[in-house]
Amino acid sequence: MEVVIVPDAAAGGELIAEAMAGLLRRTPDAVLGVATGSTPLPIYQALTAKVRSGAVDISRARIAQLDEYVGLPADHPESYRSVLRREVLEPLGIAPDAFMGPDGTAEDVPGACAAYERALAEAGGVDLQLLGIGTDGHIGFNEPCSSLASRTRIKTLTEQTRIDNARFFDGDIAQVPHHVITQGIGTILEARHLVLLATGEGKADAVAATVEGPVAAVCPASALQLHPHATVVVDEAAAAKL
Ligand code: GLP
Repeated sequence: MEVVIVPDAAAGGELIAEAMAGLLRRTPDAVLGVATGSTPLPIYQALTAKVRSGAVDISRARIAQLDEYVGLPADHPESYRSVLRREVLEPLGIAPDAFMGPDGTAEDVPGACAAYERALAEAGGVDLQLLGIGTDGHIGFNEPCSSLASRTRIKTLTEQTRIDNARFFDGDIAQVPHHVITQGIGTILEARHLVLLATGEGKADAVAATVEGPVAAVCPASALQLHPHATVVVDEAAAAKL
């Protein structure tokens, strides 16, 4: 695992966007795995600037979603599909048919999970997977004690994650869904390069457990230690407990 400490979130965003640009120059039809949450926004802003200036061509890339709420209509502004359309696909000019994600509205949720695993495999797997981290060490929506070998499946959110995410739902925890579909930890580990960005002091404990703790399901992000090509980018505040 490579750990890179940057001065602030903007520097982390620029560093990771440049890594994505480098990948796209080598592999124009790369599959980019994208994450939601506030943390990756500086990455998407920096990548958008590179695309708009002509520094990199993203027109042949494909985009893969990490996780999704179950039961929110697809056009709900906080479904991750909507969030990614707004924050990633539209700014980067990526066509809807270059996007793949799990169907959080499906009646047959296990079927939707299996279909998404098939779609990822048929796309040739994910070349670079962006990850944020929850305050409890979760990646995607793999909450603590998720199996390190897990595949895409339905999960129940912890109270802490619903509290953390209530800010996207007018601060009202009652509006935060209880269930989600997430790529499993085993699924995530199959991406060829994992890039986790963590910023702010609220992530310092989770970052320390990820980088210096034992590989343990109680901190799902610690599974990155098992990956041959994992990069953890942290700002000074998130690195404070390393
Ligand atoms: C959610 C997402 C994760 C994300 C986490 C942290 O739980 N499912 O993918 O990493 O939030 O979000 P933030 O970056 O806003 O702290």
